[in-house]
Amino acid sequence: MKKILYASFLLSITVSAQYTDINIIKEVKVKNKGVVVSAHPLASEAGAKILRQGGNAFDAVIATQLALAVVYPQAGNIGGGGFMVATTAEGKKIALDYRETAPSKASFDMYWDKEGNANVDLSQNGRLAVGVPGSISGMFETLKYAKLPFSKLIEPAIDLADKGFAITEQEAGLLNSHKADFLKNNKNKTVFVKDTDWKIGDLLIQKELAETLKRIQKSGEKEFYQGKTADLILAEMKLGNGIVQSQDLKNYKTKERKPLVFDYKGHQIVSMPFPSSGGVLLAQMLKMSAYEDLSKYQQNSTEAVQIMVEAERRAYADRAEYMGDPDFIQDKTAMLISDEYLKSRWKSYSPKLATPSKDVGNIINSNRKESTETTQVSILDKFGNAVSVTTTLNGLYGSKTVVSGAGFFLNNEMDDFSIKPGVPNMFGAVGGEANKIEPGKRMLSSMTPTLVLKDNKVKIVVGTPGGTTIPTSVFQAIVGVIDFKQNTNFSVNAPKFHHQWLPEIVTVEKNFPSATIKDLEKMGYKIDKRSQIGRTEMILIDDNKTVHAVADGRGDDSVGVE
Ligand code: DON
Repeated sequence: MKKILYASFLLSITVSAQYTDINIIKEVKVKNKGVVVSAHPLASEAGAKILRQGGNAFDAVIATQLALAVVYPQAGNIGGGGFMVATTAEGKKIALDYRETAPSKASFDMYWDKEGNANVDLSQNGRLAVGVPGSISGMFETLKYAKLPFSKLIEPAIDLADKGFAITEQEAGLLNSHKADFLKNNKNKTVFVKDTDWKIGDLLIQKELAETLKRIQKSGEKEFYQGKTADLILAEMKLGNGIVQSQDLKNYKTKERKPLVFDYKGHQIVSMPFPSSGGVLLAQMLKMSAYEDLSKYQQNSTEAVQIMVEAERRAYADRAEYMGDPDFIQDKTAMLISDEYLKSRWKSYSPKLATPSKDVGNIINSNRKESTETTQVSILDKFGNAVSVTTTLNGLYGSKTVVSGAGFFLNNEMDDFSIKPGVPNMFGAVGGEANKIEPGKRMLSSMTPTLVLKDNKVKIVVGTPGGTTIPTSVFQAIVGVIDFKQNTNFSVNAPKFHHQWLPEIVTVEKNFPSATIKDLEKMGYKIDKRSQIGRTEMILIDDNKTVHAVADGRGDDSVGVE
């Protein structure tokens, strides 16, 4: 029996048997119960089940991530990496960095040909695109704050992989559209390719992945980094041009970082520091937009969008110039989020005209290609722990290479480095020295798992996938609540926009208000329409302690309730 007090709309896809009954729950309001919001109903339910079994938010986030690795193979993963921002019931703030690292054999010019041209096909597809995976290490590090044993938290994922589950229409479509990529990037047969097309309700059974998860259940983290799973990853590397070595896996370590904490209009924002650019960009954008005070305007009005776009432009110019792994470059966070610096950046803002990008940053070269996939888990438990995790393979299905015999996709996170100064990555982001490839370095991310606190109590748990659109989406979700006084559902599902300095384009969702578009065009902005931006999973706790959990309406995202 599901204990849902309120669900704004339900969509049921019913086929038969155990994991074929899939309920997508978009919005829930509850009191005194934990909630889990993720990209897939079965993953949210895996987390909720762990809460019902006495686990806390940390237990639930481990179980949910593992379940996502099975039911959401496009982004859920054990072959990728991620970040966690959390606060315990006692108020301890945590930031875990389990971002992939560049293999020891990596070099700044590893994707260049003899003429010095960078080949993005190699940084995006196949074995050479793979960074050393961090997800399993991150989950074991999270265990410090959990209550239940790992062997229990991995059970739902094993069951889902073993017995199979009915795939949704979106998943069927994605698997079909990637068939050629799967065939090209794998020497051996994978379960993700069938002779006929996938369709809604088809069972996806992953026996090899189930065996991998069982080995991890039995032997722990070591199994992934030094056991049979490690051997299978290394063997997969040898099937092509992979360079991940045994010592790369053995040496992988999650890093506990100091969360980035700053104030915004009476709230305390807790977000991810470097090597994600997310927290710093969010701080820069919120602080610069506060110089104009967004609360005077309506969400998605011309005035508000222009202010936010110009804040985004200036922040992303800094991303390209200054941001990277703080263990390899000088950490400029303090300067970048200081009022003195941001006020000087904001001086060139004009409420009448678009600021040319060349006026706020050092342009090397640019053009763009698009692609997305990552995934967000937002969890709150009844004890008062709050966890936001964003995890990724980078592109959809990562490198598209599945580890033969182990059944999981490897990431293509190497493309998040600046593979050559001025050459855009798959999100159109450019960079230079700060984010160049070096052995052991972590590639700059945009992932922005974030908490908003008020009077030391958690008010918002939020995050989203979407590559470089992540920080701008989190920015919009937060000002939606704080400045525009919107409800949770609207803040998540309102049409979004995005600007990233280069290319010099404002990307908007297809249902973005046309009057605002027209006004912006008159001011000199170029507008580009895209079908969707991100998948925001948000939990808000109101003054009456009612918990509002909203799963993004753009996908199969769903809320699970304790
Ligand atoms: O770390 C990053 O910023 C990217 N690898 C995230 C990729 C992503 O969000 C794709 N999702 N839609």
